[in-house]
Amino acid sequence: GIAAKIAPSMLSSDFANLASEAKRMLSLGADWLHMDIMDGHFVPNLTIGAPVIESLRKHTTAYLDCHLMVTNPLDYVDPMGKAGASGFTFHVEVSKENWQELVQKIKAKGMRPGVALKPGTPIEEVYPLVEGENPVEMVLVMTVEPGFGGQKFMPETMEKVRVLRKKYPSLDIEVDGGLGPSTIDVAASAGANCIVAGSSVFGASEPGQVISLLRKSVQG
Ligand code: DX5
Ligand code: ZN
Repeated sequence: GIAAKIAPSMLSSDFANLASEAKRMLSLGADWLHMDIMDGHFVPNLTIGAPVIESLRKHTTAYLDCHLMVTNPLDYVDPMGKAGASGFTFHVEVSKENWQELVQKIKAKGMRPGVALKPGTPIEEVYPLVEGENPVEMVLVMTVEPGFGGQKFMPETMEKVRVLRKKYPSLDIEVDGGLGPSTIDVAASAGANCIVAGSSVFGASEPGQVISLLRKSVQG
């Protein structure tokens, strides 16, 4: 379905207090917690992996929306499934050969498969993954180059969201990077319904107000 999902990116939280930061976001109205898994290879940054997801899972039943910015996503399926990840979104750029196997294994582990694409990757590359007999359930359109929080939203990525929304009226379409009060309207009107927001939420004096504003913009 295309209900609004507001997903604070925990990359902008205080990692030393992850459980309390997660609970704070949920109490302020977050639907999902966006977890950025980076391997220092697919992107020039290194964050967290399955052990941290497993630790966080002991403190919350929330939907953990895991975004895998890694070169070998297949290696992460079992560990992330055991750790308690809810969504497993891999990048199309590194999955051209094995996406069918990936999707199948993600589902077998009880996770919801999604596919992400970088700003320079053509939208056509995800069509087979959405249309196959074993489809992904979400497309994540990166609105910055993956790797770091706090970057500037790239409006030229919105054409991909528009095209996707027109083609797939009920698909979950997530946007990630530079989303906040000043960019949400263009993303929402292009058709995004799952909104990741890191620095705009965690950097706000009233994060709950930002979460509500994002939700209102998506729901209209
Ligand atoms: C970037 C990550 C994003 C990031 C978003 O590679 O995928 O999830 O945390 O942070 P903001 O909202 O600050 O751009
Ligand atoms: Zn992300």
